[in-house]
Amino acid sequence: MLSILRVENLCFTYGEGTPFAQKALDNINFSIEAGEMIGVIGHTGSGKSTLLQHLNGLLRPQSGKVLFNEMDIWEKPKEIRNIRFKIGICFQYPEHQLFEDTVFKDVAFGPTNMGLNETEVKKRTRIALNSVGLGMDFWAKSPFDLSGGEKRRVAIAGVIAMDPDILILDEPTAGLDPRGRDEILALLKSYRKDHNKTIIIASHSMEDVANFADRVMVFNKSKLVMFDSVLNVFSKAEQLSEIGLDIPQVTQLFIRLKEKGYNISKNIFTVEDAIKALISLKEGGMNDA
Ligand SMILES: Nc1ncnc2c1ncn2[C@@H]1O[C@H](COP(=O)(O)OP(=O)(O)O)[C@@H](O)[C@H]1O
Ligand SMILES: [Mg+2]
Repeated sequence: MLSILRVENLCFTYGEGTPFAQKALDNINFSIEAGEMIGVIGHTGSGKSTLLQHLNGLLRPQSGKVLFNEMDIWEKPKEIRNIRFKIGICFQYPEHQLFEDTVFKDVAFGPTNMGLNETEVKKRTRIALNSVGLGMDFWAKSPFDLSGGEKRRVAIAGVIAMDPDILILDEPTAGLDPRGRDEILALLKSYRKDHNKTIIIASHSMEDVANFADRVMVFNKSKLVMFDSVLNVFSKAEQLSEIGLDIPQVTQLFIRLKEKGYNISKNIFTVEDAIKALISLKEGGMNDA
């Protein structure tokens, strides 16, 4: 299979050559296939945001390469703008960048910027707003009158409206209450299901990552230390704990229950899985899925 996105020997240091040099990415290598949903976890300062900004050409590698459909995105630096349309990024706390006087105009900003005609811009804007669950009654509102979770959804719609092949989100649920968080994760999952897009999400929440990701990248001190399925990554609880990452509480609970002799799986990552396992335990069934 061809990879949609591949990173080779990527290194980046902020303030290189100054007394304040700070290494952020140390020889990163991976490849992602079209349609995958990837979680990126790691402690604050481990390099997640720096990586994401390289993936759509906001930062240029000091050494190494980023390949989109096997083409070096920096081969023709003048065309990097087109890469940014194909690989859309939603920054952390994107609501700080909302600035238009209506929700509709804010979401229309990206596609307008791409040079699309007005009919196409409006069509994409409507589709994007609907796909984040903001129906017509929101369109004329000021973004500033919305709740935190709604603002976040406007910002995500702004990227979706550009119809990128790859959607990148940097901590999309940071600072939201559990309901706002669940809404964002649910909409990203259904967007992925409906459009079969490749999605890359950085998160500091192991629960969130377990909830949406096919594969997980684990960063520690500028290095990519694991890249595997949720199951395989979370099975390495000890290793994760050494780098300050704890597996989800529900998983810890199931490991404890298993140790107490209950016939259940240790590989429970979400509350949904936990409920199913408990019901099946109560019914006397074997559960080792
Ligand atoms: N604009 C910047 N200038 C200087 N150092 C930075 C800048 N942004 C990040 N860093 C440093 O680079 C490293 C990686 O940071 P970052 O990519 O933001 O990690 P994360 O997103 O995982 O928190 C950290 O040591 C951080 O302090
Ligand atoms: Mg970050």
